[in-house]
Amino acid sequence: MDVPGFALVTGAASGIGRACANTFARDGAAGVALFDLNLESLLEVKAEIEEKGYASNGKACRIVVHQVDVSNEDQVNQSVKAVVEAFGRLDYVANAAGVAMKHEGGAAFAHLSDWQRILDINLTGSLIILKAASQIMLKQEPILSSIDQRPVQRGSIVLFGSIQSVAGIPLSTAYAASKAGVLGLTRSASEDYAKDGLRINAVCPGYTETPLTTKNPGVFKAMQERVTTAVPMMRVGKPQEIADGVVYLAGGRSSFVTGTALMVDGGYTER
Ligand SMILES: NC(=O)c1ccc[n+]([C@@H]2O[C@H](COP(=O)([O-])OP(=O)(O)OC[C@H]3O[C@@H](n4cnc5c(N)ncnc54)[C@H](O)[C@@H]3O)[C@@H](O)[C@H]2O)c1
Repeated sequence: MDVPGFALVTGAASGIGRACANTFARDGAAGVALFDLNLESLLEVKAEIEEKGYASNGKACRIVVHQVDVSNEDQVNQSVKAVVEAFGRLDYVANAAGVAMKHEGGAAFAHLSDWQRILDINLTGSLIILKAASQIMLKQEPILSSIDQRPVQRGSIVLFGSIQSVAGIPLSTAYAASKAGVLGLTRSASEDYAKDGLRINAVCPGYTETPLTTKNPGVFKAMQERVTTAVPMMRVGKPQEIADGVVYLAGGRSSFVTGTALMVDGGYTER
């Protein structure tokens, strides 16, 4: 998928982030930094990737892990600095860390503490990661495509929206607002740096089978029923199907794409 160089994946301990981390390594990254709150699971993902023996130019793909809260700017800055010291540069970011919740009774009864927590992680966390990464990327030379050696980009950042960035789902006040905000951030920041060779895009997953959606069996069952009528492809997605979209947006094959939102949703948002 044309991803030479070094990647950073947040939310890498689970679900879509974990699939993104595996996919960067599989598709030729020289190193992948894994960020998440959950250190134990991060170490499992590191071992899982290392066991597969992926290599780039004959060298094993390097995996580093950092326990990081993406809503804490000091933690993010320190860890991004450590990653760049270890790798020498940072070419791709996939910011998959995120949280979801339903507000009982809907928007009228949403607690501001819940609203703030979701906004802090999903939206402010996206800005914090984007700031830390883009300050590094803007100072580095463009990376060359592994396919035809043309300079493709100085850096590429993929933020995480959702079908809820553009469509309403009941009881999802803070989550939907945070994910709509991510698209505004993506569009504005992409304008700031398009001329400098820094690309910023968003992926918008549809209903996807991950611990976020399966941890409550009742919720997952309702989701499986809903997709049979709401999703043209009549099924939930797999983390790998989202990761393939993310790695496309990150790498050289999307070298003329910036400021966009790629819907990977089985057709949900075309209806
Ligand atoms: N699964 C879906 O159906 C779906 C649909 C649309 C969008 N998304 C988005 O995709 C992304 C990944 O979701 P997933 O389904 O893989 O979820 P998941 O719950 O499986 O994984 C999310 C990961 O983010 C980590 N995380 C949470 N808060 C964090 C913080 N403050 N700092 C660092 N890490 C933190 C968690 O520990 C977890 O490992 C999220 O942004 C989510 O909103 C998911």
